[in-house]
Amino acid sequence: MSLFAKKSIHSLMTQAADSEKGLKRTLGPVALVALGIGAIIGAGIFVRTAAAAGGHAGPAVTISFMIAGLGCALAGLCYAEFASMIPIAGSAYTYSYATMGELIAWIIGWDLVLEYALGAATVAIGWSQYLNNLLQSFFGFTIPFEWCHSPFQISDAGVHGIVNLPAIAIILLLSLLLIKGTAESAIVNNIIVIIKVAIVLLIIGAGWSFINPANHTPYLIPADAGTVVLNTGKVHNYADTLNHGWWGVLRGASIVFFAFIGFDAVSTAAQEAKNPQKHMPLGILISLAFCTILYILFSHVLTGLAPFKEFLTTGGEASVSYAINKYMTGYGWLGKLVTVSILAGFSSVILVMLLGQTRVFYTMSSDGLIPPVFSKLHPKFRTPYKSQLLFFAFVSIFAGFVPDSIVGDMVSIGTLFAFVLVSIGILILRKTDPNLPRPFKTPLYKIVCPLGAIVCLCMIASEGWENWARLIIWLIIGFVIYFTYGKKHSKVQKALTEGSSDNA
Ligand code: ALA
Repeated sequence: MSLFAKKSIHSLMTQAADSEKGLKRTLGPVALVALGIGAIIGAGIFVRTAAAAGGHAGPAVTISFMIAGLGCALAGLCYAEFASMIPIAGSAYTYSYATMGELIAWIIGWDLVLEYALGAATVAIGWSQYLNNLLQSFFGFTIPFEWCHSPFQISDAGVHGIVNLPAIAIILLLSLLLIKGTAESAIVNNIIVIIKVAIVLLIIGAGWSFINPANHTPYLIPADAGTVVLNTGKVHNYADTLNHGWWGVLRGASIVFFAFIGFDAVSTAAQEAKNPQKHMPLGILISLAFCTILYILFSHVLTGLAPFKEFLTTGGEASVSYAINKYMTGYGWLGKLVTVSILAGFSSVILVMLLGQTRVFYTMSSDGLIPPVFSKLHPKFRTPYKSQLLFFAFVSIFAGFVPDSIVGDMVSIGTLFAFVLVSIGILILRKTDPNLPRPFKTPLYKIVCPLGAIVCLCMIASEGWENWARLIIWLIIGFVIYFTYGKKHSKVQKALTEGSSDNA
């Protein structure tokens, strides 16, 4: 048995062609781009921009977006090449199975749970917070603290959280939609995408004339910017290395990186695309490019509206509506609309993350690495309904009972790690199989692939040891499952063993 047994590209192609029994092919190019945008625009832009600007990068958060966008663009090109070549559900997991062998594929597949399942949990927690904002601003009441917070959280008034019910409710609703069908889910996603893009454009367009150039000077936070006292009572000191200047910009990049997560989710739906070879690269690259431009413009306007320190104090996590309400006179309605758009935006992110997660496990289960229940399709809807329900339960545990600060950072580090391996994977495959048909080729791959890996590694480095430790613990749990179950049931391993006994 070899830990580095590879799945042949040929068998992957056959698997992709055998679509009659498998997932339904319903997604065209527009739906794929919309799927990308659906997964990309969410908590990152609406919540993390202000956090990165306020705490670390100041107005230069635009540069943070450029750095994070660069890392994603480089990795995105590699994803696009893989997706055009290996149009199978499973994304980075499948790509690494073909290039770096089973153990690395397992690591990636397991790591993607951090990106997709925990990503859905993180955004569902944010969804619950914004639901309260919406209820407060439109109807003047909120859900009691204990029913919308995890047991680890205590309110200023000393109330303990019990469970985050709204977070669980939205996950249930979207899981049911996904069971009903990918085409139906795509329609809901398209509507949401139109709403949230319209709101972001509106903020950019209307906010531009309210930019106060004084808020953009100096552009990088100076080391002597002083301190601010946060709502939690902690003191934030701008003299700390990662809180000013270029280091602050880099730390900002690792925070806003979250805003880009999701473009790769397009590649998990390869088996549901009508023409994956042609449309997957388009879906990945167009959605990524579009969102990057939108993000840079948006962050330019946001940091122009208010002094960056206010994003840490008075603005808090609702900084976008705060800045609009305080500095864009006459646009109070936009402040309210932003909350609606954020809720819609978060919903589509959760939707695509849940979709991506079950598709990765669908492929891992088809390969025998995890139990068959994850690839069981609904007889009528042809969606992996059992897997969807199991992930509803798993994601709900995190969304209902764990605070977002813990799950959020794990999502970023898990995703960055996947990007590093995908970038290296392309480099390996160009060497080992230079003649494979590649409908989309990464340009200048000898530069793009290593640079993609390096930029993502730099962002991992700035995540800090606590997050590295969490990633390592998660991977160790994965190893235990692989060596006790996956390796024994792997179809590739079985074929290898049968092959060698045939030869004997
Ligand atoms: N990119 C997604 C978001 O910002 C995860 O919510």
